[in-house]
Amino acid sequence: MSVLQHDKIAIVGTGLVGATCAFTLADSGLASELVLVDVNKARAEGEAMDIAHGAAFMPPVQVRSGDYEDCAGAALVILAAGVNQKEGETRLDLMNRNMAIYRQIIPILEEQCPDAVFLIVANPVDLLTHISAIMLDHLPSGRVIGSGTVLDTSRYRLLLSQHTGIDPRNIHGYILGEHGDSEFAAWTLTSVAGMDLMDFCHQCGACDRHLSDVVRSEIYQDVRDAAYNVISRKGATYYAVALAVRRIAEAILRDEKAVLTVSTHVQGYLDLPDVSLSLPCVVGKGGVERVLPVALSGEEMLLLHASANKLRAALDELNL
Ligand code: LAC
Repeated sequence: MSVLQHDKIAIVGTGLVGATCAFTLADSGLASELVLVDVNKARAEGEAMDIAHGAAFMPPVQVRSGDYEDCAGAALVILAAGVNQKEGETRLDLMNRNMAIYRQIIPILEEQCPDAVFLIVANPVDLLTHISAIMLDHLPSGRVIGSGTVLDTSRYRLLLSQHTGIDPRNIHGYILGEHGDSEFAAWTLTSVAGMDLMDFCHQCGACDRHLSDVVRSEIYQDVRDAAYNVISRKGATYYAVALAVRRIAEAILRDEKAVLTVSTHVQGYLDLPDVSLSLPCVVGKGGVERVLPVALSGEEMLLLHASANKLRAALDELNL
């Protein structure tokens, strides 16, 4: 049995997303060892070499490529394997192709890394997280998580920052539900300096654009469609998602108990159906350690249930 190495991270899948995660993590100082695995071994090798060559400019880290056995002992396994969205495709469209891959690799990874937290990044992230959580249901719940709407929440905070003139890091608020078209903005949970965002905007007076329904709807649509808008211009998204992954990795490896909207298997939460989706979660070395209660408005609660029902319907079609 392999010994858990608290600062070893394995990345499975070294396409644009996996490789950018590897680069971002290598430069973060979080890990002493990063192992890159891909079906295309030459690709994983090339990415590991390219990153490792920056050794003189990074905190000490061993970056190498390897096979599944080389992942043994990793505290965190990041799954970025799978095909990604092409122009005109939704994240859900990818499911059948990526599910076959996950069915194959999850049991192998479990054998190699029985004590790891598994972080799913490939899309459709909520469905892949869910089928992985089912396959690993004998592990402590919370150890199988998805990157979920951590990225969408950053996009939301960026747009609110542009609206309010406040640093996005000082804006608290969440995008919840599916990482996809049925996600929603939890406006009632959004605040600046302890003040409800709507009140903040009313008293601020710094701009003439109050957060009217129209402005809020524009902000929400920009968040929801952000990936489509990047993909139509450059073919893929990978920088911001890699930063979101780094943030989640920090919370896990440093046992931060950070509140992040990762995708998690909801079990009996607010009478939602059996799905995995994003809610504000406490993230530490055990992965999702707690799902926090949320004081949503009636309308937001309906949106949460609609998002969960959509994911459940997609799962029901899969013949699990
Ligand atoms: C995005 C991809 C990662 O939202 O789903 O950019």
